[in-house]
Formats: sequence, structure tokens, C-alpha cells
Amino acid sequence: MTLLIKNGHIVTASDDYTADILVEGERIRAIGLDLPVGSHAELHDAAGLLVLPGGVDPHTHLDWDFGVARTADTFGSGTKAAAFGGTTTLIDFANQNGRSLPEALRDWHDRAASAAIDVAAHLILTKVTDQTLADMSTMIRREGVSSFKLFLAYPGVLMVDDGTLFKTLRVARDNGALTCVHAENGPVIQVLIEEALAAGHTAPSYHATTRPSLMEGEATHRAIRLAELATAPLYIVHLSAAEALAAVIEARDRGVPVYAETCPHYLFLTQEEYERAGFEGAKYVMTPPLRDRHHQALLWRGLGTNDLQVISTDHCPFCFSEQPLGIKYSKQQGVGNFNRIPNGAPGVETRLPLVFDGGVKQNRMSLNRFVQLTSTAPAKLFGLFPRKGTIAVGSDADIVLFDPEERWTIRAASHHSRVDYSLFEGHEVIGRVKKVFLRGSLIVDGDKWLGRDGGGQYCRRGEAGRLS
Ligand code: URP
Ligand code: ZN
Ligand code: ZN
Repeated sequence: MTLLIKNGHIVTASDDYTADILVEGERIRAIGLDLPVGSHAELHDAAGLLVLPGGVDPHTHLDWDFGVARTADTFGSGTKAAAFGGTTTLIDFANQNGRSLPEALRDWHDRAASAAIDVAAHLILTKVTDQTLADMSTMIRREGVSSFKLFLAYPGVLMVDDGTLFKTLRVARDNGALTCVHAENGPVIQVLIEEALAAGHTAPSYHATTRPSLMEGEATHRAIRLAELATAPLYIVHLSAAEALAAVIEARDRGVPVYAETCPHYLFLTQEEYERAGFEGAKYVMTPPLRDRHHQALLWRGLGTNDLQVISTDHCPFCFSEQPLGIKYSKQQGVGNFNRIPNGAPGVETRLPLVFDGGVKQNRMSLNRFVQLTSTAPAKLFGLFPRKGTIAVGSDADIVLFDPEERWTIRAASHHSRVDYSLFEGHEVIGRVKKVFLRGSLIVDGDKWLGRDGGGQYCRRGEAGRLS
């Protein structure tokens, strides 16, 4: 089967031009002007549309066991939602959860078998023994898992100590892998949480006040220093705070290979959301929490100066209301105690339109930068490029046709995730995904779903930790 996408405005991280794209099988075979329509070609007219490489979202938690709750999306529902949002590859988190790394990865593969787009895995390390360190190189070389995440937050659940992070950084460095860190000072936050609860402060807004930006800055600085000592590259996940960004900038200016991502919710929402009436603020309980407005301007600036390299979603969906069927956990677990609200929020379906609207349409970034932040940079940093992350001859034909002028309103009622709310309910945006091709197959056509559970492939990744 061949397909021809004609007259589209192709945008990559470096180029921006009008041409046709010929796809044969799963890959891009040719790009050129006036490519002839062959006898077997399925024709798609992209006049007036942007032709983008499929989005790469390097931070999702599908069907993820957080101890107190499990996320609402299966790999089937979460990847379908991602596809409707223009994302064709996810790098999802497999949680060690006290098990061996091969066991944790096997369990992740069992659940990921229903993915409808391509998926790769990072491993979250919670218990690092000598065997774990030895298993890391097997995971990297044999299984293509070339990144690991460690938490400096959530004591007793996910947190590791500094020595563990340091040892892991060295093994990752020696094997061409990238260490990702959730940087908040867990023990100090725990003290603040206990004090708040003892004072009778139980509402969702205390989630934010007990996780101060200063403690994100402190942990970011600490992780960077440990990576420097280990001479290892480092990736800070879901950076939300000016203090954390300052630590990243300071290190990068000295040539330290530190990279960082932020997420749409930190770019568009503020901690005022926690003041919503009733228990509604619980919808916005994710870690780090939403910050006040002055952090936002600095995050946008960091995206412009390349001190932040990636926009991911940290899609970690928990329903707001108790669900009659199927989904056992919800934000309601935290009524009367903000510390029991499952931490995490949805976002996998709205990343591209939000960043396009707030970034490109508001003149904060170029089209190329938009593609770089949402596709090319994550593909490069996590060892998927050039198979993913660009439109080039030989790359997978993961292609999004995007209408840069369509105005629409984000509504949970029309999204595809199993979660029952959107952080961006009622937000009007300009820019909409119209068609999505996964390795040459049309999987989204307007509001029609043509993909299938299990249609995704597992991506073994190569060396991670470099952007060039
Ligand atoms: O609140 C969040 N971000 N939940 C997911 C776990 C994590 O820290 O990434
Ligand atoms: Zn995290
Ligand atoms: Zn996360």
C-alpha cells in the first residue's frame, strides 16, 4: 500500500516548506514537489493544513499502580486519546514496585499489549540493589529501555536517597542511558503535610502550600550536583518552578548536560484552581502542584531560550467522581484529607493544540520550535530519533495533519480518555488535529477512530541523553 499526502505545509524542527510526501509501507519513501499519484496510492489532500511529525510524549502513566490508586486509562484508552491529540509515540513509566527490573518490565509489556500507538518504556527505580544495577545494563542493551526515573519525593512509597541516585547515575552514564528525576524534597514536604493536617487543614489547596517551589528548587539543585559529580546527563521531569529553572539554567550555562521538561498545566494554569468551590480543586492535584503566575512567564521564557527542551504531559489520570463501572479509584479518596487525593491529572489529548495555541498563535515560539518541543527533542533525548520525531525519508510515517485555523473548545465530554474531566474544560483554542497516520496507517480521521487496540508497536530505544 502506498499513500500520498499532497500540498501540505511540512514543518519539522528545522524546516518549513510545501511539498508532497510519499509513504510506502510504514515509512516515508519520498518528499518532493509534484510527486506523481501512482496507481496504488491512497491520496490525502493537505492543502491549508500543517503536516507535522507525530507527537512524542515522553511522560505518561497508563494503567499505573500508584500504591493508593491505579490510573484510569488502560493502554488502549490512553493511546487512543493520545492519537486524537496528535501523539503517535508515548514513553510510559514502568514501575519497579520492589520487584526485579525484568519482572517489572514484563508486567508493563503485558499491560502495554493493547496500545494503539507506538510505545516505549522508562523504568522507575524504587529499590536499587547490586542486582538492580547489573540489570540496568541488560534493560538498556537487550530491551531498549535507555532511561530510568528516580523520585526525591514521596517518602516510603517511591523516594530513593541521594546515594542511590548517585549510584544509578553512574551506571546509566556508563551504558548510554538517561536518568530522569522527580525533584522535590520529600522529607521536608512530609513535615509540612503532617503539620497542615494536625492544624485541621484538609482541603485540596493545602496540597500546593505543603509543596513549596523552594523545595523543588532545592531538589533540582541537589540532583544536578549529583549528576555533575557522576559526570552523567540528567533530565528533570515536570519542572514547574522558577527556583528549579534557575538551577537548570545555572548548570547549563556551565556546560553541564542537564535537560528539563515542563507540562501544559504549568504553562496555562495557576494555583488559583485549588480555590474552586467544594472539592473541585482536587482535579488539579498533581505533583509538583500548580504555581502562581510569575512562574509561568519564566517557564515560557525557558522554552524560548532552550533551557527547557521538552513539553510532556505527565498524563496520570484519576477520575474525579466515583465511577459506577470498571474504574475503582478516584479523587474522592481524598475528601477530608488532601494527602489522600491520588496525585496526577490527565493531559495526553490536549498537548499539541494547547502548545500550538499558547505558543505559536500567541507569538511565543516558531512553528519549528513547537515541533522541536513536542516531537523532535523528546525523540532525540530518549533514543528514538530519526525513526520518530521528524518527517524525513526513511523515518516512520507517523504524520499529523493539523488545521492551524480551526477554533474549538476543549470538553471532557468529547475526549477519548476514560477520565471524567479535563483540566482545560471550556478553554477555547485555535489549532486542531484532523488526521493522524501511524506508520502509514490512517488511525484518526476527524472524529472517526480507525486505529485498533494492539495496533501499536514496542519501540526499543537507542542511546539516550543527547540532543544533537
Ligand atoms: O502528580 C503526578 N505527577 N503524578 C504522577 C507521578 C509523578 O510524579 O510523575
Ligand atoms: Zn514525578
Ligand atoms: Zn509523572
